[in-house]
Amino acid sequence: MTNILEVNAIHTFIGQFHILEGVSLTVPQGSITALLGRNGAGKTTTLRSIMGLNPPREGTILYAGEPIQGKTAYQIATRGIGYVPEYRAIFRALTVEENLRIAERSKGDLAKRGDLIFELFPDLKRFYRLPGGQLSGGQQQMLAIARALVPENQLLLVDEPSEGLAPIIIEAIVAALRQLAAHATVLLVEQNFRMASQLADRYYIVDDGQTVSSGQMADLVKDRPLIAKYLGAGYAGAGLVPAQSTTA
Ligand SMILES: Nc1ncnc2c1ncn2[C@@H]1O[C@H](COP(=O)(O)OP(=O)(O)OP(=O)(O)O)[C@@H](O)[C@H]1O
Ligand SMILES: [Mg+2]
Repeated sequence: MTNILEVNAIHTFIGQFHILEGVSLTVPQGSITALLGRNGAGKTTTLRSIMGLNPPREGTILYAGEPIQGKTAYQIATRGIGYVPEYRAIFRALTVEENLRIAERSKGDLAKRGDLIFELFPDLKRFYRLPGGQLSGGQQQMLAIARALVPENQLLLVDEPSEGLAPIIIEAIVAALRQLAAHATVLLVEQNFRMASQLADRYYIVDDGQTVSSGQMADLVKDRPLIAKYLGAGYAGAGLVPAQSTTA
C-alpha cells in the first residue's frame, strides 16, 4: 500500500518554544489514520506543520512522494490537502452556500462536488441559504468538513470534529467520515477515543511533542495500560464500549 503522507522526525517551534521534538507518522492511501494524544500533546501543531501554517524547522514531509516542507500553505493546499481546523472555522455571517462557494479552488468545484457533499450532509442542502451562524453545532461541523470537500482533495486533515457535540450528532459525523473515506484519505485528530477507534485502521500517539506509539487501532483498543499512560485514565475503556450501548 502506498503512503500518501510521510512525516519524518519534524521539529516545530512556536515563537521560541520547541513544540514538536520529533514527530513521525505515515498515512497509507485510502485509510483513516488517527492521531491521538492528551491536551497540549502537539496534535494540532502536527497538522499545522503539515499544512505549512507552522512550518517545521527540521525533518521532512512527503506528500505523494514529494517533499512539501518549506512550501507555503497555499502551495500545499493546492496540491490536494484539505484542512478542517479545530473549533469549526466557518464564516458565521455567510450562508451555507457562500461558505462552500468561497472554498472553491477552481470555478465550478462546487457544482462538481455538490452531489457528494449533499449525500454526506443532507442538512447542508436543507439550510443552503441560511447563515452559518444559525446552524446547530453539528451542522456547523458538517459545513466545516464540507468546505474541505469542495476542491477535490486527496488527503484531509481533520482536527477534533467531535468536540463539543452530542453523542447522536457524533454518530452522524462518524457515518459521514466513514463514507468519505471512500473518496479521500483522512488523518483524524480526536480526543474522543471511542469515535477514533470506530473509524481508524491505524493510530499514532503523540506525547509532549514526540511520537510515542503507533500501530493497529484494533491492538490499541485492547491495550488499557498504554491508553491510560498516554491518553489518560478517562480514555481507558472508552473505546471498548459497543456503539449501541451508549446511545440511550
Ligand atoms: N501560540 C502558542 N504559543 C505558545 N505555545 C503554544 C501556542 N500554541 C500551542 N502552544 C503549545 O504547544 C503545545 C502543543 O499544542 P497543540 O495545540 O498542538 O496541542 P493539541 O495536542 O492539539 O492539544 P488539544 O487537544 O488541547 O487541542 C501545547 O503545550 C501548547 O501549550
Ligand atoms: Mg488541538
